[in-house]
Amino acid sequence: MAKRKVLYEGKAKTIYEGPEPGTVIQYFKDDATAFNAQKKDVIAGKGVLNNRISAHIMTKLEGIGIPTHFMRSLNMREQLVREVSIVPVEVVVRNVAAGSLCKRLGVTEGTTLPQPIIEFYYKNDDLGDPMINEQHIVSFGWADPYEMDEIVHMAYRVNDYLNGLFAGIGLRLIDFKLEFGRLFGEYGEVYMMLADEISPDNCRLWDAKTNEKMDKDRFRQDLGGLVEAYQAVAERLGLIPKGGIISGGDINEQLAAGLEEIENELAKERRLRGVKRPSPTGGKPRSV
Ligand SMILES: Nc1ncnc2c1ncn2[C@@H]1O[C@H](COP(=O)(O)OP(=O)(O)O)[C@@H](O)[C@H]1O
Ligand SMILES: [Mg+2]
Repeated sequence: MAKRKVLYEGKAKTIYEGPEPGTVIQYFKDDATAFNAQKKDVIAGKGVLNNRISAHIMTKLEGIGIPTHFMRSLNMREQLVREVSIVPVEVVVRNVAAGSLCKRLGVTEGTTLPQPIIEFYYKNDDLGDPMINEQHIVSFGWADPYEMDEIVHMAYRVNDYLNGLFAGIGLRLIDFKLEFGRLFGEYGEVYMMLADEISPDNCRLWDAKTNEKMDKDRFRQDLGGLVEAYQAVAERLGLIPKGGIISGGDINEQLAAGLEEIENELAKERRLRGVKRPSPTGGKPRSV
């Protein structure tokens, strides 16, 4: 087989050319980075778990009518997704104070916010992903006001849904980060959809009883046990059998290989969905 073309080498994932036009393959690596890649490590099995968790959550979100890029799981570490043009804005939704919010505003970690707070960051590693507001986004043309309405609306819906999903398995959703992308239809119409991943790499999840951290803060704060925590999340979501698929850095390949079937079964009826309207960005027509 010819070597696949790498379209983008990210910190946690690699994007490969897809089998058909308009598709790409998202490969989940075991690399962990924090603080804009100043801190790095490789954590065996992390990619396998994030691939599973993200595929599951995207499928669930499609099920409540939120358009996502996810098409289907391919194997342990790869999923087929629609190629989109990523809006260079990271959308953070917060329910409980943690991370940079505490540093910036002097709020105690763990304080429940009276209402969810949405923040925007400019997705630019060279600048360290600076915080921005809607006026920056619109002024610099990263998204137009209609797209921002769509994005914010979707972010709240995702938050409501995920709060329930995680509460049901004894986890508190503290905060999370979303990325959105545009897909241009045949006539230049734009479909805005959820892209990237939703996993313990970009969600803060605390155990509801003990407040134990079960997300990437275990890595950021040197708490150890990252893969065990991600595995516990996957287990509680019912995605992997009790006892897990990874122990002592070894992955049970046979077990892991069969797991995507359930997700693909659920995803069979998936159609391209989105808000159809003329392209505000004058995007070039391309086939879907
Ligand atoms: N459906 C998609 N089409 C094109 N690019 C995507 C899609 N989903 C995610 N991406 C982009 O691919 C990259 C995924 O790799 P990641 O390791 O997260 O990169 P980064 O280091 O930029 O965070 C991200 O930059 C993300 O914006
Ligand atoms: Mg990323």
